[in-house]
Amino acid sequence: MDNIRIEGGSTLSGRVAISGAKNAALPILAAAILGDGESTIRNVPDLRDIGTMARLLRHLGLDVSRRDDHHVLDIVARPVAHDDAPYELVKQMRASVLVLGPLVARYGRARVSLPGGCAIGARPIDQHLKGLEAMGAKIELEHGYVIASTSGPLRGAEVVFDVPTVTGTENLMMAAALARGRTTLVNAAREPEVEELGRVLNKMGGHVEGAGTDTVIIEGREGLHPVDHAIIPDRIEAGTFAVAAAATGGDVLLAGISIEPIEAIAHKLRRAGVEVRSEEGGVRVRGHRPIRPTNLTTEPHPGFPTDMQAQLMVLMCLAEGTSVITETIFENRFMHVAELQRMGATIEVRGRSAIVRGPCVLNGAPVMATDLRASASLVIAGLVARGTTDVLRVYHIDRGYERIEEKLAALGAAVRRVPGAA
Ligand code: EPZ
Repeated sequence: MDNIRIEGGSTLSGRVAISGAKNAALPILAAAILGDGESTIRNVPDLRDIGTMARLLRHLGLDVSRRDDHHVLDIVARPVAHDDAPYELVKQMRASVLVLGPLVARYGRARVSLPGGCAIGARPIDQHLKGLEAMGAKIELEHGYVIASTSGPLRGAEVVFDVPTVTGTENLMMAAALARGRTTLVNAAREPEVEELGRVLNKMGGHVEGAGTDTVIIEGREGLHPVDHAIIPDRIEAGTFAVAAAATGGDVLLAGISIEPIEAIAHKLRRAGVEVRSEEGGVRVRGHRPIRPTNLTTEPHPGFPTDMQAQLMVLMCLAEGTSVITETIFENRFMHVAELQRMGATIEVRGRSAIVRGPCVLNGAPVMATDLRASASLVIAGLVARGTTDVLRVYHIDRGYERIEEKLAALGAAVRRVPGAA
């Protein structure tokens, strides 16, 4: 397993090209199941999770080929050879559950391994299943698998989510696209990636209104045609590089993204004294000192994203004062805290809040996390720490960040990938 080795102390400067959004690409690749023929998806990030989804689609009988150094995927949906998403694939990536809705909508049956928990929490899919049942699917659970089946087409329904769920909203949008009649999703997730899926389903001949708001209306269609679509940029990758620029007192242009999808992140960074503004070709981020302590609470979009919580925590370690960071989305998303404490951070966890007392002097150390965003935060910590930091098991980072060490090195960081022992 590879590691990333960082010598702290560099100031980041220059331009970084933001890749396509992982969490937009994953549902869109699953949506290709719905279209009869060849779809082409462009600006796809070259990530482990994309490779996992490609393997899953091939297992289901679709042809998936990658070109242009993996940033374009051609997908041919055919009569499904299999209707099951096996545990050995689903356990690698919870987002595999996104094939459930498309499979049962198009082929009347899906057998998908329950994703199980992961490092950051239990990650149930009860809301996905509640919605499919409301649309007429029969749901059975056996031996760790969920089997969804329907004798005829799914039928439109009103579904009120108990909690806004991103992949739950996406799964049901895709199932509803081929259902008979109208489906209304209430208390839907409002993330930009949900809005992007709505655009893609409409390009495929679907009829989706309100994607990106808390109420999504889908008029079902007999069938959908394939799509040629370029994925939106990754707001979490952009936010991660913005924090790295701020933490190192740098000056970085996040190229290929506008300020809108990262507004909540920009707001918090500005409160901390960081300069964040739109400019030709992207968003400019300049770090200044002192960094001001800032409280934050993670919330569903358009609130502050949970996927940026660990990164902001590192910045708050450098702030002149105390910050309170509260995680409301997942029950166990503070795994980076222990590692940051080992580097010298003064952080106290009380329930769902972490109290960060800055400024901390961070010292390099061997560190490891099991959540891809926590791992990214440890890389940022390594950039500002004294001495050498080894971030172990970097495959977690490779799930969500394309060539992160190359992009950071191009901005002036002293960072390199070290082939791991095993
Ligand atoms: C998506 O996960 C993202 N993944 C996550 O990004 C992100 O952290 C999360 O949304 C929250 O923004 C993808 O889009 C592939 P949820 P998802 O369903 O859909 C509870 C990353 O770093 N819930 O919105 O799995 C759930 O337990 C990943 O790229 C239910 O109770 O998250 C959680 O507390 C990590 N029942 C809350 O809702 C359900 O049926 C939000 O989860 C579904 C969810």
